[in-house]
Amino acid sequence: MAIVVDVLRASSTVVAAFTAGYERVLCVDSVDAARRLRSPGRTLAGERGCRPIEGFDLGNSPGAITPMPGGELVLCTTNGTPAIVDAMAGAEQVFIGSLLNLDALVAAIPPGLDVAVICAGTDGRFALEDAYAAGRLVALLPGARSDSARAAERLASAYGPPLGALADSADAEVLRSTGQEADIKYCARESVFSVVPVVQSVRGGIAVLCAEAQDIGGGVPVPAGPPRAARDDAAMPSG
Ligand code: MLT
Repeated sequence: MAIVVDVLRASSTVVAAFTAGYERVLCVDSVDAARRLRSPGRTLAGERGCRPIEGFDLGNSPGAITPMPGGELVLCTTNGTPAIVDAMAGAEQVFIGSLLNLDALVAAIPPGLDVAVICAGTDGRFALEDAYAAGRLVALLPGARSDSARAAERLASAYGPPLGALADSADAEVLRSTGQEADIKYCARESVFSVVPVVQSVRGGIAVLCAEAQDIGGGVPVPAGPPRAARDDAAMPSG
């Protein structure tokens, strides 16, 4: 199985959307595909260059997601949503990970499976915040580790709490320079939400996501979810 992370900010936005009551998130790999999906009951969100896309309802700011029980969010971002669309090509099951849902994610991983952490990265390059989140995940999983997983774990442990790592990243620099600094703090919060977004299907560049809720103690209540993984794998950009 695979877990896609794009901490700043697509995977954090997906987690925030389900927490706000959206029933489905449709991740798309192009702006045109997102525009074609517009219909009543759907909210269009996304970014280019970290800025909202013309004609869309929202940007890619997780903090701007407002409660929308039963709604559908169409999300189009530069790196994160294409990585989510591509992930099913190499895995039978795909979860969406962030720091916001870290504990819930770990609780939802079925036992005995190899887990690949797919870091969305930035334009095909390594992104510090994604490697940090991958390292935090690796540290919480039992079993053997690839070299990239070991490196990510070391990186995360060297940084300690999330905010320092996220704030140190090039992507955070872009958010600061575009007046969206608050999103760095928002995305650096750890295990505050108990939803685990899951890719249901992918077709024609559209990944349909739904969510499971995990009982992580005091969070959102709970359909029983499967337990833990035996091994973690790659923690490198997916390109
Ligand atoms: C992306 O998918 O490239 C990011 O989520 C960019 C952003 O921070 O909006």
